[in-house]
Amino acid sequence: MDYILDVQDIHTFIGQYHILQGVSVRVPRGSITALLGRNGAGKTTTLKSILGLTPPRQGKIMFEGNEIQGMLSFNIASLGIGFVPENRSIFRDLSVEENLKIAERKKGDYAGKKGFIFTLFPDLKRLINLSGINLSGGQQQMLAIARALVADNCLLLIDEPSEGLAPVLIEQLMKAIQQLSAYSTVVLVEQNFLVASQLAEYYVIIEEGRSVKEGKMKDLTNDKATIQHYLGAA
Ligand SMILES: Nc1ncnc2c1ncn2[C@@H]1O[C@H](COP(=O)(O)OP(=O)(O)OP(=O)(O)O)[C@@H](O)[C@H]1O
Ligand SMILES: [Mg+2]
Repeated sequence: MDYILDVQDIHTFIGQYHILQGVSVRVPRGSITALLGRNGAGKTTTLKSILGLTPPRQGKIMFEGNEIQGMLSFNIASLGIGFVPENRSIFRDLSVEENLKIAERKKGDYAGKKGFIFTLFPDLKRLINLSGINLSGGQQQMLAIARALVADNCLLLIDEPSEGLAPVLIEQLMKAIQQLSAYSTVVLVEQNFLVASQLAEYYVIIEEGRSVKEGKMKDLTNDKATIQHYLGAA
């Protein structure tokens, strides 16, 4: 299998706390891979460790075959890794278009990508001059994902995109993630198991700072006992 990302047994500390105590995540190129696990399991910390925001103290992270652990976060992102954080950090005082332009990594990124972005998120085109503060939760989430598409990213790390959204918006969002996954590999943290199971081809379960199970999503969806055991939902 061709893995675009291969996280090998990482250990991450936040302050004195040993938060990740052996997390391994292999992400096949072109896939959507879901990171699953209960609240506080270490899913967000895993994404932040990949990005060097909370650098691991032990273990290896291979991206496109090169070790990236220990590199500065800015340089890791520049390799082509986009991050959509859980709090949808868009700029509330900037317009939709300004939010997109400021996400450029090199001049011309926005001009080159806007056609693609507005095909995925037609609402954003309509709202282009509105400032972030005036967007609904769903529109903010779409803008947050759109921002990660402006630069050339071959890997997107998306943290809890469906959180707090109404079902109709979740549907729209899922369709967009499905479509963009034709262009970028996606690592998706998702608490809503139905959303994760419909989108992802592969999964990794994290429990108390350790990766405990991985495989094909279609095998997991048939395994109610495992879902109940690790995720408490069936
Ligand atoms: N800044 C911090 N200081 C201390 N502990 C932290 C900090 N950030 C995270 N933690 C702890 O690390 C553990 C993992 O947190 P993390 O945010 O990675 O979990 P998660 O799986 O993303 O959870 P959630 O589903 O709630 O988003 C939790 O026990 C959390 O309390
Ligand atoms: Mg989290």
